[in-house]
Amino acid sequence: MIDEMTTVLEPSPLPDFVETKYIKDVTNRSLSYIKAGFPVHFRGVSGTGKTTLAMHMASKIGRPVVMIHGDEEFTTSDLVGGEYGYRIRKVVDRFISRVLKTEEDMVRRWVDNRLTVACKYGFTLIYDEFTRSRPEANNILLSILQEKMMDLPVGRGGEEPYLRVDPDFTAIFTSNPEEYAGVHRSQDALRDRMITMDLDHFDYDTELAIIQAKSKLSKPHAEIVVNIVRGLRESGKCEFAPTIRGCIMIAKTLKVQGITPIRSANGVFMQMCQDILASETSRVGSKTNQAKVKEVVKDLVEKELGRTKNTKSADEIREKSEEETAVV
Ligand SMILES: Nc1ncnc2c1ncn2[C@@H]1O[C@H](COP(=O)(O)OP(=O)(O)OP(=O)(O)O)[C@@H](O)[C@H]1O
Ligand SMILES: [Mg+2]
Repeated sequence: MIDEMTTVLEPSPLPDFVETKYIKDVTNRSLSYIKAGFPVHFRGVSGTGKTTLAMHMASKIGRPVVMIHGDEEFTTSDLVGGEYGYRIRKVVDRFISRVLKTEEDMVRRWVDNRLTVACKYGFTLIYDEFTRSRPEANNILLSILQEKMMDLPVGRGGEEPYLRVDPDFTAIFTSNPEEYAGVHRSQDALRDRMITMDLDHFDYDTELAIIQAKSKLSKPHAEIVVNIVRGLRESGKCEFAPTIRGCIMIAKTLKVQGITPIRSANGVFMQMCQDILASETSRVGSKTNQAKVKEVVKDLVEKELGRTKNTKSADEIREKSEEETAVV
């Protein structure tokens, strides 16, 4: 029986999931490695779609999903299980019905944690940001991935000290680069047992399709947002490159407010881009950096809006913007 402490998710397609050529390509390659019996590891900077892709893969695999988020505080028993327990029992006297006795006792009972559940029942494990856990905590994975055996601490309710991993068990890992704060170096032995797919920021078409799917903004308007964010990313002037999350924030705010880049009065659009992108790309308190980013954003917004005005499709965009304003 699976303990209530472990949440098992049904594999289901993600809402608004976008499948472009790039996404299909990474998914198919990764699925072929999984079919061949190897765990896949998506590695990349923030916002490159690792967690989303891992969940998409899990829905394609079709088995129930168990998710773990790497954590500095984790010990092996947080992954595997341990002895927990404090039991309160109510005893109702059958002869004197008014007598209700409460017995409290400490019955320590073994409870399987997520990793054990996934191995035992052949579920798909998504270990998100696994390098945030300390390498010692993750050592348990070495024999699971190689020998398909899981060592369990002695005293696990009289059961065998090891568990044979179910053949349907699959593992998908994600991680951020090692230079990120709070990230440990992954052990060579562990990395050697998985196939690492390095993910980069999305290509133009994928980024645009995701923005449109998430914000429901029209294509010409979504293009303006994407061009600005990509321009800032490519400028190399930020402490942290802006991610697709910045695009999503700008696009959703535009949509909710019912304004469009072209029709925004009093520089509302400019202000929004500066706020969102400066906050995404600089550390707290770094005023100089924020000012520098805002300056670059200003130039990019002006360039984008100027370009839009001069293109043949300006009228078409204006019409679209009216439609959108009317809808909101
Ligand atoms: N294929 C996709 N279709 C739709 N939305 C997507 C897709 N891929 C990523 N996204 C969206 O892009 C954003 C970033 O993706 P995600 O959270 O998966 O990135 P990540 O690489 O895990 O980032 P982090 O390292 O910060 O955890 C999310 O809002 C996610 O919903
Ligand atoms: Mg993630």
